[in-house]
Amino acid sequence: MKIKVGVIFGGETVEHEVSIISAVQAMGFMNEDKYEIIPIYISKDRTWYTGPMLKDIDVYKDFNDLKRYAKKCVLYKKGDSFFLQSLGLFKRNITELDVAFPIVHGNNAEDGSLAGYLDTIGIPYVGPHILGAAVGQDKVVMKQIMKADELPVVPYTWFYDTEYLMYKDEILKEIKKIGYPVIVKPATLGSSVGISVAKEEKEIDAAILESIKYDVKIVVEKMVDNLVEVNCSVLGNYESQEASVLEEVMSTDEFLTYADKYIGNGKKMGMKAKGMVATDRIIPARLDKKTEEKVKELAKKTFKSLNLSGVCRIDFLINKKTQEVYVNEPNTIPGSLSFYLWEPTGKEYTELLDDMITIAIKDYKTKHKKTYSFDTNILSNFNGIKGSKGMKGKLR
Ligand SMILES: Nc1ncnc2c1ncn2[C@@H]1O[C@H](COP(=O)(O)OP(=O)(O)O)[C@@H](O)[C@H]1O
Ligand SMILES: [Mg+2]
Repeated sequence: MKIKVGVIFGGETVEHEVSIISAVQAMGFMNEDKYEIIPIYISKDRTWYTGPMLKDIDVYKDFNDLKRYAKKCVLYKKGDSFFLQSLGLFKRNITELDVAFPIVHGNNAEDGSLAGYLDTIGIPYVGPHILGAAVGQDKVVMKQIMKADELPVVPYTWFYDTEYLMYKDEILKEIKKIGYPVIVKPATLGSSVGISVAKEEKEIDAAILESIKYDVKIVVEKMVDNLVEVNCSVLGNYESQEASVLEEVMSTDEFLTYADKYIGNGKKMGMKAKGMVATDRIIPARLDKKTEEKVKELAKKTFKSLNLSGVCRIDFLINKKTQEVYVNEPNTIPGSLSFYLWEPTGKEYTELLDDMITIAIKDYKTKHKKTYSFDTNILSNFNGIKGSKGMKGKLR
């Protein structure tokens, strides 16, 4: 019997469309002999939809049309099974699900919210669990953990929007200590949204105010000189990790913008036949063997340190002249699930997706061997509810 995989994507996030592209692409590469693929699209108003037509990218050209044809649904558990049930007057089970495969980006989804929701229902799912997902979405918390684990991160400072309004002078002094030029980022966004560079002090206020439009938490970090950006994908879980080949990312601007990543300029446009390739990449990255090995080791260590699972692309910033290597950030389910970094290792996209689902099922089984509840009900001997005096006594 085929394994029923519910691919969940979309959601209320600025990266809604990116998620749709990644998911449609992934569904196209899943092994249909082994898996029955069930698309689950979350609209921008957070309604869940399903229907076979959602595998087709053309459906998303008109969201109103889509809502007319796809079925609204909810995920629920009955006995040991999971189902998608239709909403409305006549509720019925649309399909059973064995495993969920979230391909979501950004706030309210990739940040662990969706992982938490799936955990609450109890269904196995692909990718990082709440902790890894949440940490991977907060540029401040991830740096704090990486620093504690002695992973190299760029010098930085961070603050909340209200702090900037109240203690602007102190914060600007702190930034000056880091040294210009700096790069200002909203802490929990991705795809370069709200990021800008301040080459000197007179540009910093505008850069911070731009970031504050998107987030309450802001991070300011030193610009890496003579920058080479290198990415490494890691596949695995807490037990073992495998590193892909490295890619070198070429940017047209001084940093990769949203347009660079997803829109491209003219001929480098959006989705190519085999995936979303907007920026220019060189695979493998042009690094000496020693630096290459160092990056791969750091990528695996970061993956473990940040509690990640499934596939995660870890991005690096390297100073070409000094060969200093910094971990920039993990991308838990990146734009294209980095399949192109695995193909040169002999692992085709279909096999990569297969590995991810296998890890999810294996992790689920391991987790369920652990003790999460006791058979005895301690409340059976608790008789304080009726007589409130007794209960108060016990609770104190
Ligand atoms: N410290 C830095 N020095 C130089 N360039 C940087 C630095 N941090 C980020 N960048 C540039 O900005 C881009 C976006 O920053 P990043 O932290 O990766 O945010 P996002 O989550 O939006 O991808 C990077 O891909 C890189 O080109
Ligand atoms: Mg990035």
